[in-house]
Amino acid sequence: MSLEFTVKRVPLKITLEDDPDDFVGYEVLIDFIHQRALYKLEGDIIEIGAYMGRGTAKLARFAQTYGKKVYAIDVFDPSLDKTLSRSGIKAGDVYEAFLQGRSMLEAYRESTRAFDNIVTIREDSQKVSFPREQRFIFGFIDGCHQQSHVENDFHLIWPHLVSGGVVGLHDYEFDDWPGVTEAAHTLIGEHKREISEAYEIEGKYNILSLLLTKK
Ligand SMILES: C[S@@+](CC[C@H](N)C(=O)[O-])C[C@H]1O[C@@H](n2cnc3c(N)ncnc32)[C@H](O)[C@@H]1O
Repeated sequence: MSLEFTVKRVPLKITLEDDPDDFVGYEVLIDFIHQRALYKLEGDIIEIGAYMGRGTAKLARFAQTYGKKVYAIDVFDPSLDKTLSRSGIKAGDVYEAFLQGRSMLEAYRESTRAFDNIVTIREDSQKVSFPREQRFIFGFIDGCHQQSHVENDFHLIWPHLVSGGVVGLHDYEFDDWPGVTEAAHTLIGEHKREISEAYEIEGKYNILSLLLTKK
């Protein structure tokens, strides 16, 4: 599909922490936020799909330096995500496997307890809304990987994203979760007049995130 957009690759400049419970490599996102000076913009950070909270904590550590909050949305119940990967594996079973018997919510609380700038929203992201005045500078979408959910999560963030702010979609162009790429291309088509730049950035396991900057 023609995107009418050049998706530029962000060169990887940093080494990822050896952190088995961070499945994204949040350092690359934080480095991007830093390089682009997004912290100078007015607003908070939002993450959809917090899982064990390792990334939430990394975002919160960064955000607190600039007096910002991190809104973290998750259902915190691995059994609820019945999305099937292309190879037929259920997302919830993958979450269970990496939890190795731990409770997701307990693991999340343990990761994030040092931070008082996290607003945890334990809810299906399809049921969440924000007041009109809420502003985000950066949003990261890594919740349910079905196309309709990814589109929902984008629409939850985009109206609240400030000019120059960035929204990221994890698992872009990743074979296992085609719904993310389908959603990304649909959203780019729908919002192309509001997007100034598109980047892809490589994180852990060579998985890409698509980063869209709002005009
Ligand atoms: C791939 S994991 C996120 C991994 C996390 N970003 C990390 O790297 O540590 C996806 C998460 O999305 C959550 N999730 C799935 N469907 C959801 C929904 N409809 N609303 C909110 N959270 C959801 C799951 O509970 C799971 O924790």
